[in-house]
Amino acid sequence: MDIKSEILHLKKEKGVLILAHNYQIPDVQDIADYVGDSLGLSRQAAKTSYKTILFCGVHFMAETAAITCPDKKVLIPDLAAGCSLSDTITSEQLRKWKHEHPGAVTVGYVNTTAEVKAELDYCCTSSNAINVVKSIPPDKEILFLPDMFLGSYVAKMTNRKNMYIWAGECHVHAGIRSQDVQEKLNELANAEFLVHPECSCTSSVMYDIASGDYGNRQVQILSTEGMMNYAKTSNSKKFVVATETGILYRMQKQNPGKEFIPVSEGAVCKYMKMITLDKVYASLKEEKYEVRVPKNIAQKARLAIDRMLAIS
Ligand code: 13P
Ligand code: SF4
Repeated sequence: MDIKSEILHLKKEKGVLILAHNYQIPDVQDIADYVGDSLGLSRQAAKTSYKTILFCGVHFMAETAAITCPDKKVLIPDLAAGCSLSDTITSEQLRKWKHEHPGAVTVGYVNTTAEVKAELDYCCTSSNAINVVKSIPPDKEILFLPDMFLGSYVAKMTNRKNMYIWAGECHVHAGIRSQDVQEKLNELANAEFLVHPECSCTSSVMYDIASGDYGNRQVQILSTEGMMNYAKTSNSKKFVVATETGILYRMQKQNPGKEFIPVSEGAVCKYMKMITLDKVYASLKEEKYEVRVPKNIAQKARLAIDRMLAIS
């Protein structure tokens, strides 16, 4: 039996749900029960009846599943699969920031540690960040963390003037710059343009849209699953994509007649790519590595996560 068949056999025998993020390597996406964005994966974890969840993604995602499913075993194939964005803020830093803004509502991206989530009022993902901010009374100050590009995008889209934004970034998306976008779009006149709001080019893209610089070109700022849905329904045949390149495999697979071109071939998250088939197999077989969150942290973090899951 090849390793993929062995994984599928073992997974069935042990009754394990395999979740994979859109940035996982193609082989890992192939053996997953569900492939999606951060919000979709959190929802799948929260509603499953399986007793064990194997999370093919990065650590904060597995932690989120462990918080929403305290009665389940959550496994990650490599504990070193971290996230440069979630590393940009600690719970101590957040407590200090909150102290400087008494009464402010804290909204944190799901790309944060459980300790940081325990300090939040609301958690959000790129697909519901705008609606989460819209749900907060306009007179309330907001502390938004940790991604500054997503934060600026959300502030602009909600016309929120009383929003303070943490200066964090994801090294992969920060590396997708306006110059790269311009070069690619100049080469491909008829392609639609899909952008993830974590990209450093997001602000200039919004500015260019408002200034009419894109003319008739369709430009969409979307979460990874938003991009997947858009690519399926659009009549266009060609798309320039600004996010981590792992998504291109699923896009191409679901839309065989369409072409997807990355803005940057180098937009690769080394943490996402740490999950390999060998590690998935070992994880299933030996039921390692279990991700556990201390009860006191999990109980506090759960409030912010449940609010995130309630808002689409
Ligand atoms: P989404 O899949 O929620 O759009 O997030 C992208 C990301 O960078 C996850 O780490
Ligand atoms: Fe974190 Fe960026 Fe990797 Fe997403 S792509 S997991 S935000 S480092």
